[in-house]
Amino acid sequence: MKPLIAGNWKMNGLSASLAEFDAMVAGYDVVLRSAVDLMVCPPTTLLTSMAVRVGTSGIALGGQDCHAAIQGAHTGCISAEMIADAGGTSVIVGHSERRADHHETSEMVAAKAKAALRAGLLAIICVGETKSERLEGKALAVVGQQLKESVPVDLDASRVVIAYEPVWAIGTGLTPTTADVIEMHAHIRALLSDLFGAAGASIRILYGGSVKPSNAAELLSAANVGGALVGGASLKAADFLPIAQAAAAIVR
Ligand code: 13P
Repeated sequence: MKPLIAGNWKMNGLSASLAEFDAMVAGYDVVLRSAVDLMVCPPTTLLTSMAVRVGTSGIALGGQDCHAAIQGAHTGCISAEMIADAGGTSVIVGHSERRADHHETSEMVAAKAKAALRAGLLAIICVGETKSERLEGKALAVVGQQLKESVPVDLDASRVVIAYEPVWAIGTGLTPTTADVIEMHAHIRALLSDLFGAAGASIRILYGGSVKPSNAAELLSAANVGGALVGGASLKAADFLPIAQAAAAIVR
């Protein structure tokens, strides 16, 4: 399966940033397209504008969160159906910033993942340990528990992507060692096989946390790394496209 390079713009981007998106559309040429799936998850305010500009480039668009319900009295929230209606084909759920800032539990994340599939979207389900959990030797256990609680087993495995994002690596410039990435991704792969049987082998497991053009090749070459979820470096075409090119250059 092609690697997936997904950009999470978080709460960044005004209409002026559409020029960067245009540059990404222009740079996602036929060669890159044949080797890598590219996705941008902008703030919802830019989703429809990007959907118009994406043209036939094949860049996928996604949301950064959704409510579990289809519609209703939930001021400020957005449903998975609304993301689909705006031109999105995926949604990130359970990002550590949502788990921390909005007190989202894994149970809530699982309900959002179900909502994503109900709306026909791909669910990108995030897991990851904090620095203290890693230092205490609990990283595998914490991530395993999050995964079991956040990934409903009755989901269609072909519509699920997992993103492993160590909280301490997000926006810090720090990354785990390649050995740690390999260990964690193998652990997640084994759990997915327990949950989904043979279908678990084909679920993409993205790495996220301080991915940059300079470290992308090494991180993306690790076993069971099926792509990257990129924050800061996804805001500029000059950073994001080289990450996609690094993914394309890896012989699998
Ligand atoms: P950074 O790439 O800025 O570290 O963010 C990673 C992330 O949280 C993507 O969802």
